[in-house]
Amino acid sequence: TNIYVLCGGKSVEHDISLRSASAIINAIDRKKYNVYPIYITNGGVWCNLGLWENKIESPDELRSISSSTVSLSMGEFLTNILKADEDNLVFPALHGPNGEDGTVQGFLELLNIPYVGNGVLSSSVAMDKVVTKDLLTKYNIPQVKYTSFKLHSWKENEEKSYEEVEKEIGYPCYIKPSNGGSSVGISVARNREELVNSFKEAFLYDSKIIIEAEIVAREMQVSVVGNHNPKASVPGEFIMERPFFDYNAKYIDGKLIPVVPARLTPEITDLVCRTAEKTFKVLNCSGLARVDIFVTDNNEIFVNEINTMPGFTAVSMTPVLWKATDGTTYGELVERLIRLGLE
Ligand code: DAL
Ligand code: MG
Repeated sequence: TNIYVLCGGKSVEHDISLRSASAIINAIDRKKYNVYPIYITNGGVWCNLGLWENKIESPDELRSISSSTVSLSMGEFLTNILKADEDNLVFPALHGPNGEDGTVQGFLELLNIPYVGNGVLSSSVAMDKVVTKDLLTKYNIPQVKYTSFKLHSWKENEEKSYEEVEKEIGYPCYIKPSNGGSSVGISVARNREELVNSFKEAFLYDSKIIIEAEIVAREMQVSVVGNHNPKASVPGEFIMERPFFDYNAKYIDGKLIPVVPARLTPEITDLVCRTAEKTFKVLNCSGLARVDIFVTDNNEIFVNEINTMPGFTAVSMTPVLWKATDGTTYGELVERLIRLGLE
């Protein structure tokens, strides 16, 4: 089998993708598979880096070598390269728009080429915060209070939009473009003036925005892997490293330390894991996803978001969670995802 690992991409998460892809490429078993990294430039040009036998030392290698290769349009690549051999699998190690949002998955579907991870529907639903939340609401999956607006309805009656937010959500609230692929355009509003500015800002990036209530909670991350019978890992969380008040005090500002398994009671751990699995199924996910879930001090839980191609470096939460769950190594996890993609 030939495995084509797609990396980079026309996305704000281009560089994170290179890191995920490097780790994946290094972990694929060369006795079983031929590995071909495909670097996609920020401008959307596809570069076939050829059969790859060495270890990647730095993610930048993928970018730099691409300048000496033949570049293709996506159409040329998909029809000429992938179609030339029937025994192919694609690993779209892409994060954000144009890769994690169902667009690439749609092309692969049309060409009948198996691929790792989520299909068109789950990928595109998870990329849209409003559609995701509305769907989870239908299945009674707990979420933070939210409301949403479309550009045209806001323009029709701005005043009414703000009144609705004040009545249903209140201050402080968070205003975000609905398209989860952009990390821009998000702001907090504590009063009417800030709310007005936040709406204007968010609407610069999307024609649909979401307004969420503030929540004081810890965020748990759970990896779910499988196709028809998905299983959750143990939950993990990041905590802010606190300075020690002793002679060796070291202040590392804002450093996030992963804690795996997360500090939760067995009952809440179970609730978080079952909720992650249910979310995975409701969104029609396949292969893998990382479900992020808030847990308050009173042990209330709220699903925050679903990543259909979560960060996948050796130190990313997903492989760390599986190691802690059942000892699965990074390489074994990659092999499992390849198998699920071929199913
Ligand atoms: N969007 C990044 C890659 C993550 O959620 O892990
Ligand atoms: Mg998150």
